[in-house]
Amino acid sequence: MKVTVAKSAGFCFGVKRAVEQCYEQAASGRVPIYTFGPIIHNEQVVEDLEKKGVHVIHDEAELETIHEGTVIIRSHGVPRSVYETIQRKGLTLVDATCPFVRKIHRIVEEKTREGYDLIIIGSPKHPEVQGICGWAEGPVHVIETEEEAIAFVQHAEKSASKGSSDAEGCRTGTDRNMPEEPMNRRLCIVSQTTFNYKKFNNLVEILSELRYDNRDVLNTICNATEERQTEARELAARSDAMIVIGGRHSSNTQKLVDICKRECDRTFYIQKLDDLDIRLLPSGGCLGITAGASTPNNLIEEVSKRCQN
Ligand code: F3S
Repeated sequence: MKVTVAKSAGFCFGVKRAVEQCYEQAASGRVPIYTFGPIIHNEQVVEDLEKKGVHVIHDEAELETIHEGTVIIRSHGVPRSVYETIQRKGLTLVDATCPFVRKIHRIVEEKTREGYDLIIIGSPKHPEVQGICGWAEGPVHVIETEEEAIAFVQHAEKSASKGSSDAEGCRTGTDRNMPEEPMNRRLCIVSQTTFNYKKFNNLVEILSELRYDNRDVLNTICNATEERQTEARELAARSDAMIVIGGRHSSNTQKLVDICKRECDRTFYIQKLDDLDIRLLPSGGCLGITAGASTPNNLIEEVSKRCQN
């Protein structure tokens, strides 16, 4: 059987960099070491790091209880307040924020300082979006769905015609979305890096109804996810069987499973090596392997080796 592993399978550049920084810190022997939030959504990796002395801090309140050591910021990034707390407490900072996310922080800081209103297209519950919100120096609105975008536009129109800042009827996602002041005449729109490109364009189109003198629409979507999905689709289409590896709770892995199933009936989803039942695979032809964004390379290699053997 010919086994092909997708080049884009597993960690993206930002996650790989963050995980490597954790292992480097663990090897340095400088303890204690903490990550602000689990470094990736992969229990095995988080447990392995825990054994090596890298502990997870879950929120800012927990950070306040830490008095010494190193704090690693994961690829999703954090609000500015977390940096301030780390500095105030004299802790060592290792910033593994993905440079693409860091770039959004800088845009948001600069634009809101210049007086732009800010719309983030993304999920208000996602830690990356919460981190981005924490760099704004003015009103922030998070919009995730078409309904929220339409409600936002309608509310803005109503407020403009009344000449007031009445925020009723504009609850889109989080309380931060409630505009408390009259609209500025300048608007900046950015996106969560993992947001769907088509959905982003669709929401931007709805928001183009907003009356602003000046608008900067910055597509800050990272193409790592898109590339992984496109490659998985192409590989599945030319394979006799497909294996998708990834965490049970990883939505990007489940998306890969759906994509591959559409192209290849014999698509198998596994979380770990033991889930692999070689007997189900065809005895000849082509086998493709891909993996979600939080799947470590060694697991992908082990699966590939077992299939080849
Ligand atoms: Fe960075 Fe893109 Fe990954 S923003 S963390 S390289 S998905």
